[in-house]
Amino acid sequence: MLKEDTLRRGLKTRTLGGKIYTFEVIDSTNNCARALASCWAPEGTVVIAEQQTAGKGRLGRTWQANPNENLTLSVILRPGNAPGSVNLLPLLVSVAVSEAVQSLTGITPECKWPNDLLIGGKKVAGILLEGSLKKEELEFVVVGIGINVNQTAFSPEIQNLATSLKLATGTDVNREELFKLILERLEAHYVSLKPGGFEPVLSLWQSRSTMAGKRVSVKSNGSVLTGTVKGLSPEGGLVLRSNGTEHTLLAGDVTVLGIDPDSPSHAPRH
Ligand code: BTN
Repeated sequence: MLKEDTLRRGLKTRTLGGKIYTFEVIDSTNNCARALASCWAPEGTVVIAEQQTAGKGRLGRTWQANPNENLTLSVILRPGNAPGSVNLLPLLVSVAVSEAVQSLTGITPECKWPNDLLIGGKKVAGILLEGSLKKEELEFVVVGIGINVNQTAFSPEIQNLATSLKLATGTDVNREELFKLILERLEAHYVSLKPGGFEPVLSLWQSRSTMAGKRVSVKSNGSVLTGTVKGLSPEGGLVLRSNGTEHTLLAGDVTVLGIDPDSPSHAPRH
């Protein structure tokens, strides 16, 4: 069982993890963190649970994770009216989690827009941001992070789509160390937002993604758009070229179809 003292020991952050609430079982750490944030829990408050009975994924999906093997946590942020936070924060969180995994295991999970991390094309982590607006200002954002750490068997519906750090490395991965590294990388990028804006995060995200040049189909608002990924827009949207027209999507569910042979980044070099 994850314990507050071992999660906190040696944690090198100023704000994130100032308060850490640990649960054996909870419905969803995001639900709990939202309730705490509405009652003025300070920025950086973390909720972490061994087991979620109603873990939430994006687009109304569920998040399944075996107890005692994974990390399921939520962090409260209060970015105020930082422009573009809603679309750009998921990219920042993806970069932070990818860096944390890389520094602990040597494996660099790939960023898949908008907020998945993949190893060998399979999902190893998912991120769910839930915000609350008050008078057109972001009152708070709850950053929910689920990582498949030491789980090696998945339910039939996801077994071909999911992987874990243990499956990728062949060894058990220390969850407490990974937790600390995630908070440290998240804080480092978050505090540099005001001086540097999101531009550095966008570049880091693109350097950890192989989506550019791929043919994808994106389900968004009930319609499907197929095209070639050109990159990210300044506000964190996915830029697609489809039938000669560029589109910027701010939300959606992406299926990678393959490499576009006509894309300049994949065309044969002479
Ligand atoms: C996704 O890939 O669809 C997002 C998954 C997010 C899962 C995490 S687990 C911790 C936090 N609490 C939740 O209920 N969901 C997020």
